[in-house]
Amino acid sequence: MEAEMTGVVGPAMAALPPHLRLLLLTDGKRISQVIHVLAELKVADELADGPRTVADLAKVTSTDTDALRRVLRVAASFGVFAEEPDGRYVLTPVAEALRTEVLNSQRDLVLFNGDEMLWRSYGELMYTLRTGRPAFDKVYGRSFFAHLAAEPAAGRLFDRAMTQMSRATSELFINQYDFSRFTTLVDIGGGTGLFLTKLLRENPTLRGVLFDRPAVVANAHRWFDDAGVTDRATVLGGDFFGELPPGHDAYVLKAVLHDWHDPDAVRILRQVHQAMAGRPDSRLLICEFLVAPANQWDRGKLLDLDMLLRFGGRERNLDEWRVLLAEVGFRLLNEPVTGRWAVLECQAVTDAD
Ligand SMILES: C[S@@+](CC[C@H](N)C(=O)[O-])C[C@H]1O[C@@H](n2cnc3c(N)ncnc32)[C@H](O)[C@@H]1O
Repeated sequence: MEAEMTGVVGPAMAALPPHLRLLLLTDGKRISQVIHVLAELKVADELADGPRTVADLAKVTSTDTDALRRVLRVAASFGVFAEEPDGRYVLTPVAEALRTEVLNSQRDLVLFNGDEMLWRSYGELMYTLRTGRPAFDKVYGRSFFAHLAAEPAAGRLFDRAMTQMSRATSELFINQYDFSRFTTLVDIGGGTGLFLTKLLRENPTLRGVLFDRPAVVANAHRWFDDAGVTDRATVLGGDFFGELPPGHDAYVLKAVLHDWHDPDAVRILRQVHQAMAGRPDSRLLICEFLVAPANQWDRGKLLDLDMLLRFGGRERNLDEWRVLLAEVGFRLLNEPVTGRWAVLECQAVTDAD
């Protein structure tokens, strides 16, 4: 346990006596909002060319100098920015990830994590705990995706955060699974198409279909054009609870099924099963975070609570995946590693098998 604790919050936390560690864990909400406002103000971009005084930063960000100094002091105590001996502030490697146009930027995810859609839902965790129902629906009076459809700014924030997450996780999936064996593939709930773009770029003979809600795929062409793969990409707006394009070599569900509780996940899987009918060589590729065993630090366990509060969904461990797949008539063909993002390779089984 000690080792895992150190891994999550660093040696400073491991050095604290247990009762103070507990208190620090409950400070997470405050720390999160501190980082969130600094991300919103683009302080990291303002420091890209070198150290600056707080007064200077306050001027360009239209904030109060004393308040900004105190917010920055908290962030710096966790290694997000650092104060120099002369009082000026500089970027640190952690703060670097708050910049907008850098390779490993996390800014959109930080903005989403600190957005009211998340913290107001966490404020109602007790409701979810008592009822098992998503707190989001109680707070906003509608489901998460209905909310995104009604509030374009919230929808854009979510799509940008998912794209940023996808940028990091796509590489993991591409490195652990050989997609080059397929000629055609459908990315179901593929968002704005970043993953499909990467797949098409890596595999020059592959053709792909991006399938998502019409409002989401409307922005997809940009990725395909930039990567020069437009001629091999088809964009299809639709509902994955309805009919899916049949007869393709592979169907990807990446970070989709965790949004749904088992009965709805089964409904989506049944549609995929139907689209794969008569093609025993066709593959379903589920790309999800596989929850690690008990007591181990695993971000999937936190994401699981997000899914519960937001949708009534869940992150699943390998046994839970096996049960779900068997219910629809899928066979798991590989043995993915748990505690990380993994590709589950599945084949549809029929009565004849
Ligand atoms: C968590 S995001 C994952 C997006 C993408 N696969 C990725 O990994 O970044 C879930 C996606 O499911 C899509 N979605 C939700 N309900 C849908 C529906 N009924 N039909 C089609 N797509 C849907 C959302 O628009 C969103 O893009």
